[in-house]
Amino acid sequence: SEQNPAKVFLNTFNLTPADLLQISDLFIKEMEEGLSKDDHNSPVKMLVAYVHGLPTGKERGRYLALDLGGSNFRVLLITIEENGSITQLSEKFALYDDIMRTTQEVLFDKVAESVISFGEKYGIKETLPLGFTFSFPVQQHSINKGTLIRWTKGFSAEGAVGRDIMEMLQEALDRKGSKIAYLSALVNDTTGTLMAKAIEEKECFVGLILGTGTNACYLEKISNIPKYKSPPPNATHVLINTEWGAFGENGALDKFLTEMDAELDKAALHKKQQIFEKMISGKYMGELVRLCCQKMISIGILFKGQSTPKFDKIESFESSFVSQIEEGDKPDIKIITGILNQFDITPSEQDCQLVRDACVAVSTRAARLSVAGIIALVKKMNRIEGCTVAIDGTLFKKHPKLSGIMRQTLDEVLPGNKIRIVESEDGSGRGAAITAALASLP
Ligand code: BG6
Ligand code: GLC
Repeated sequence: SEQNPAKVFLNTFNLTPADLLQISDLFIKEMEEGLSKDDHNSPVKMLVAYVHGLPTGKERGRYLALDLGGSNFRVLLITIEENGSITQLSEKFALYDDIMRTTQEVLFDKVAESVISFGEKYGIKETLPLGFTFSFPVQQHSINKGTLIRWTKGFSAEGAVGRDIMEMLQEALDRKGSKIAYLSALVNDTTGTLMAKAIEEKECFVGLILGTGTNACYLEKISNIPKYKSPPPNATHVLINTEWGAFGENGALDKFLTEMDAELDKAALHKKQQIFEKMISGKYMGELVRLCCQKMISIGILFKGQSTPKFDKIESFESSFVSQIEEGDKPDIKIITGILNQFDITPSEQDCQLVRDACVAVSTRAARLSVAGIIALVKKMNRIEGCTVAIDGTLFKKHPKLSGIMRQTLDEVLPGNKIRIVESEDGSGRGAAITAALASLP
């Protein structure tokens, strides 16, 4: 069955342990480059997050938090009680594509309006410190200052690149005459994810997102960061937001890319950017599966060689379908047929099997690639003997097989490792608040 054309085609997504080690080593090289140069010419940016210590458990107080850049835009009110327990109220606000792609004024007006209406709803009268989880590459200058390097994922609001995020938010709050918030911490979602876990667990040194996008942060020794010129006098470590999604933009991953990756890039909002992210994250996973199916249709081995207008539509196949299709030990014909019916397709049993095979090929590669990244980080820190990786994001939480494949891959590539992979609940809320609290400690 090695001659089976579907197998031959889907095998192009396979990565051997040797491939993964090679990718991991390539990534370490890119990281080192990013840590030494500040000119933004190396694809992996390795951004200093200005968080110089992990939480102590002594953080207290009431905080607002904002979460922008994942699948939901949210406002939260977090209270860290005197006994250390954390409670929260949160509200989701709709953020339509057009707002993500208009101008920074329209976008930040929407953010400001949401905070203000949240404050009214919950009767917030005082000015509260606010932690902003802003899930994009930001060149920080301090814990509450940082300029947007570029947009990623589905965002492209004009006028924001090169501007300070907190300044744009403050201007929007000022336009509305609101004093609801003191903008005290600007954090990436990976940072939030790490902080939220690190408050309850020792040895948590990596924060990872597998969601709309993918990225990781980790704790680095300041002596390993040549480009970090003026750290605070007593600091020894700092969190680094790797922005690993950009890995591969200089061609480093070319030999591992498939025909489908090239197809996907051609139609993407941010072309030739975020190569590693496009191979892994939820924003792209469904589209990669759809492109695989289109390929199998074109060679006549799927859906009797017939597509439909609905199935021809770019990005029509959601990543949540991938999760549903991979549920269980064997294909659930009813579920898969139900999904394909939405595209006006009436699949045979064999079609269902093939579609599931495509999902497995794409998601397994994603899981294994993320492990190559994790291994690079843990090796870089020299912590194979003990490290917790805190993970959040819809893809990780909703895909039925991802975390299992990650565990298996980790043990296959690094037998005997002591790396733990754990879910971190709500980095954007708790993590941003904890970071805001840390920032306000003397
Ligand atoms: C959430 C975090 O759980 O995961 C957010 O709280 C983060 O901060 C998000 O951005 C990422 O996942 P997704 O799937 O929403 O992009
Ligand atoms: C994208 C963003 C990054 C974020 C990640 C996960 O890669 O550039 O900042 O952490 O998505 O949301």
